[in-house]
Amino acid sequence: MTTIKIALLGFGTVAQGTFNLLQDNAELIRNRTGVNVEISKIFVRNPDKYSHITLPETAQYVTDIDEVLKDDSIQMVVELMGGTTFAKDCVEGALKAKKNVVTANKDLLAESGPYLLDLASKNGVDLRFEASVLGGIPIIRTLYESLAGNRITEIIGIMNGTTNFILTKMSEEGLSYQDVLKEAQDLGYAEADPTADVEGLDAARKLAILASISFNRRIFFEDVSVEGITSIDTEDIKFGKEFGYNIKLLGIAKETSQGLSLNVYPAFIPTTHPLASVRGSYNAIYVKGNGIDDVMLYGRGAGSLPTGSSVVSDIMEVAKNISYNETGRLKPFYYDQKNIYSPGKIQSSYYLRLEVDNKTGVLAKISAKLAEQKISVLSIVQRNMDPETAVLAIVTSKCPRSYILNLIDSFNSLRSVKSVNSVIRIMEA
Ligand code: HSE
Repeated sequence: MTTIKIALLGFGTVAQGTFNLLQDNAELIRNRTGVNVEISKIFVRNPDKYSHITLPETAQYVTDIDEVLKDDSIQMVVELMGGTTFAKDCVEGALKAKKNVVTANKDLLAESGPYLLDLASKNGVDLRFEASVLGGIPIIRTLYESLAGNRITEIIGIMNGTTNFILTKMSEEGLSYQDVLKEAQDLGYAEADPTADVEGLDAARKLAILASISFNRRIFFEDVSVEGITSIDTEDIKFGKEFGYNIKLLGIAKETSQGLSLNVYPAFIPTTHPLASVRGSYNAIYVKGNGIDDVMLYGRGAGSLPTGSSVVSDIMEVAKNISYNETGRLKPFYYDQKNIYSPGKIQSSYYLRLEVDNKTGVLAKISAKLAEQKISVLSIVQRNMDPETAVLAIVTSKCPRSYILNLIDSFNSLRSVKSVNSVIRIMEA
């Protein structure tokens, strides 16, 4: 049986999950691929950190990257370090040395994916990245291979576990954003600096990668309009429930006749939508295509073994390609130049929450402003805070975002409106 030597770069959480699966499922992997995948080198800065882990006899730690890049016996490099500077140098160096690469590095892919895929193709080697988006959910190969016969029209994802955990807790336990964030940090679910997750940046990077594959166009992080969850209030979640909605941070990429719209934002979704039942730190992705109609994948978007599972599937795929002499077949798939649609023009229903004077005639003034902006109301709920103040929760019919921004300006010009507290999009079923 052919032996294929691989090197792991980095030995953190995902690398250890990959290592464990390669060890525990070694026989199954051999049977399914027809090759023996052997870990030859593990590149780390400080091997002492891992003295508690027993390596197989064939494997050794190295602290000089050239011991991997200049070793002709290594045919595959598995980059699991993260970051976009040194990791990019390593991946670039490996591809130029005609080594196949598997990576779980979303940031690197979102920033330099097209360049690295071109480089892999020119060097006749594979670059695989199933684990870079949604951890254990097999979405990359699903889009690239299983759904290849479809024209994809829309992808909608709950692509970030930290924010889904926070929104689920706020919704189910009525806790504030700040309290849940602190709990998530104490439990180690959320990073000490949670910006990338809670501001939607992590989801936007994932959306850029998935949209590139779905729509055959180079899409970068900067092409995605992003809003996070930091201003979501438990009051809004309660009103949402009354209207039949759950709140989720969504990544949405959609093809319209005017071009592609690419957005990450918190939105109310009907409780009957399959994505509404995705709770806690789970992720899911809902894909619409002109053949399949719709399909949804659900699972763990992070974690050692789930993400390791995706890395190992890529390692097995590349190992088979090496053994059949078929690496480098994956041609760059960017041939389309659809324009990107301005977020201001996207039509949606909206939920608004305002604090107003609790006086006769105020509702009539609010209605007049809505009529001026040609926005019709689908539902309205009033709750009295005290004898002087009422809270209004309004659900509008579909309109462009620019209309809503004008409406907010006109509400703010009314003396009887104390504040416009929230504006949240509503996704159609
Ligand atoms: N921090 C991410 C999340 C996982 O919370 O989903 C890695 O992308």
